Amino acid sequence: MSTINRQWQLASRPSGEPTAANFRLVEAPLPELADGEVLVRHHFLSLDPYMRGRMNDAKSYAQPQPLDAVMQGGTAGEVVASRNAEFAVGDKVVGMGGWQEYSVVGAAQRGMLRKVDTTHIPLSAYLGTVGMPGVTAWYGLNRIIAPKAGETVVVSASSGAVGTVVGQLAKIKGCRAVGLAGGPEKCAFVTDVLGFDACIDYRQHPDLKSLSAALKDACPQGIDGYFENVGGVTLDAVLQRMNAFGRIAVCGMIAGYNGAPIPLTQPQLILVSRLLVQGFIVSEHMDVWPQALAEIGALVAAGKLKYRESVAEGLASAPEAFFGMLKGRNFGKQLVRLV
Ligand SMILES: NC(=O)c1ccc[n+]([C@@H]2O[C@H](COP(=O)([O-])OP(=O)(O)OC[C@H]3O[C@@H](n4cnc5c(N)ncnc54)[C@H](OP(=O)(O)O)[C@@H]3O)[C@@H](O)[C@H]2O)c1
Repeated sequence: MSTINRQWQLASRPSGEPTAANFRLVEAPLPELADGEVLVRHHFLSLDPYMRGRMNDAKSYAQPQPLDAVMQGGTAGEVVASRNAEFAVGDKVVGMGGWQEYSVVGAAQRGMLRKVDTTHIPLSAYLGTVGMPGVTAWYGLNRIIAPKAGETVVVSASSGAVGTVVGQLAKIKGCRAVGLAGGPEKCAFVTDVLGFDACIDYRQHPDLKSLSAALKDACPQGIDGYFENVGGVTLDAVLQRMNAFGRIAVCGMIAGYNGAPIPLTQPQLILVSRLLVQGFIVSEHMDVWPQALAEIGALVAAGKLKYRESVAEGLASAPEAFFGMLKGRNFGKQLVRLV
């Protein structure tokens, strides 16, 4: 086993789009384990849009990512050494190990490490559909949109980690599911593989009038629930098509994460259509995680919930893969494979 741990640190804070200069690859020696500690070798790193927000030193719902520290993030891997009776060498685990090859988890951080069963579900899926993004989809759909059979649910970034789950769960509930995604290949996946009723390639509809017309075609009965991942013109167009008493789960606004303005031009539609608009952060709803993961895990294991991954190879590829995800170059959950 290696005695060196390679790590990506945040070297400086970006203004606008992040660049390679914001990251630094360093090597650190692997420490001896103390009592209660576990050494995890990471097989997969999770790259997620929220990481862009944490790179800023701005007031938010979470503390900023510290400078000169390992980039924080979800990881899936295997216990390779243990001085903790609850973990044995060979256990498959998910945690928050960050952008590095190994992490040491102490007894006090025990809750940060969770054993997972890879008999029917691949290890990588615990970072996507059967992990944080899946629970995010479950929460926004079930607890905010709460759709009834026959209603129409629209989701943006619908070929991604969260969006794929939103639409498929909506279909299982008997809803009409309509996605928005960037490009014909992603849209074909959303309808043909995931089983959504329709998917709009928003890049073909760059202005409000055109996107609103496309939504009218795809949602002949109007929109009852909208799962918002993007912001900007997409939200404006959806607002024009919302039915009275519709619900909007505000999950993310990725179109603005690099600092681009994402104006809302007709907020009066919230009043006119008597809409519920609710933002949420999945980590503040830990009470639903067991139920959500059990339901989603059973569906994935039975082959009833499909997903797709974009896998970058090797630790060195992490920053480029991250930049690509912020521009839609990923197609499904963005991961980095280390082993
Ligand atoms: N509230 C929470 O607790 C929580 C938790 C997890 C995730 N989120 C949010 O959920 C959203 C989706 O996250 P994810 O992990 O599932 O990522 P993802 O959808 O797998 O990847 C991001 C996708 O966003 C789309 N995108 C990027 N820039 C865009 C732009 N300017 N306009 C429109 N679409 C753009 C791209 O898809 P296209 O090619 O289709 O544009 C890209 O593939 C993000 O906003 C994220 O911040 C929130």
